[in-house]
Amino acid sequence: MKLHNDIPQHVAIIMDGNGRWAKNHGLPRAQGHRAGAESVREAIDACKEMGVQYLTLYAFSSENWNRPEAEVSALMLLLEKFLESKLSDLMRQDVRLLAIGQLDRLPAKTRATLDRVIAKTAENASLTLVLALSYGSREEIAEATKKIAAEVKSGALDLTDISPQLFSRYLYTADIPDPDLLIRTSGEMRVSNFLLWQISYAEMVIVNKLWPEFRQGDLFDAVREYQKRHRRFGGV
Ligand code: FPP
Repeated sequence: MKLHNDIPQHVAIIMDGNGRWAKNHGLPRAQGHRAGAESVREAIDACKEMGVQYLTLYAFSSENWNRPEAEVSALMLLLEKFLESKLSDLMRQDVRLLAIGQLDRLPAKTRATLDRVIAKTAENASLTLVLALSYGSREEIAEATKKIAAEVKSGALDLTDISPQLFSRYLYTADIPDPDLLIRTSGEMRVSNFLLWQISYAEMVIVNKLWPEFRQGDLFDAVREYQKRHRRFGGV
């Protein structure tokens, strides 16, 4: 079934459950992430099909650096391979890549691949794929606060200039509209330090599937659920 009206402009996804999926299949965790990369392709295709303009994926959190080194390296390698193998599809599908997070913490090679794909896809316009990498919302808010405080101190900003609108301009997502729909897989009802400021009015849909099991149809279903909700933005 095609979905026409009231398509969310921005869908954000907490891709959870790769580890459990691997365990259920008697596989190493890295295999779960590899299977998860396939679901990333499905999510991009579904967004393209519906005309969603922004898709943000929580691919690696600030806290994920605490995982065993072998798992972190496997994820970084997977990300590089994904970006390299996906570049031609991104060009064909007119998808622009962006990344948010503490990108300077990424290994040099991962960062270089990321920067290259971001530069190559910069003119694409149908869908913007935003990868949250080494991302933590509290870190993002603290960094924004530091920048604003420095500008107040130097006199470039006045204390009375600080408003929610101004604050948004200092986040990694300055040029990205807030998510309309936030999806989390694996049935967990947590936000896990993801886009805390930006999801103030997002509709949340929890999907009871592990991320590697997530298919295009699951994203269509989540959008149908979103369409049934009545967003009031604090009004009546
Ligand atoms: C959560 O599952 C998932 C991650 C920490 C990484 C997400 C990465 C991918 C889906 C693959 C690579 C990404 C791209 C963009 C190619 P978990 O390991 O926390 O699962 P668990 O809670 O079952 O252990």
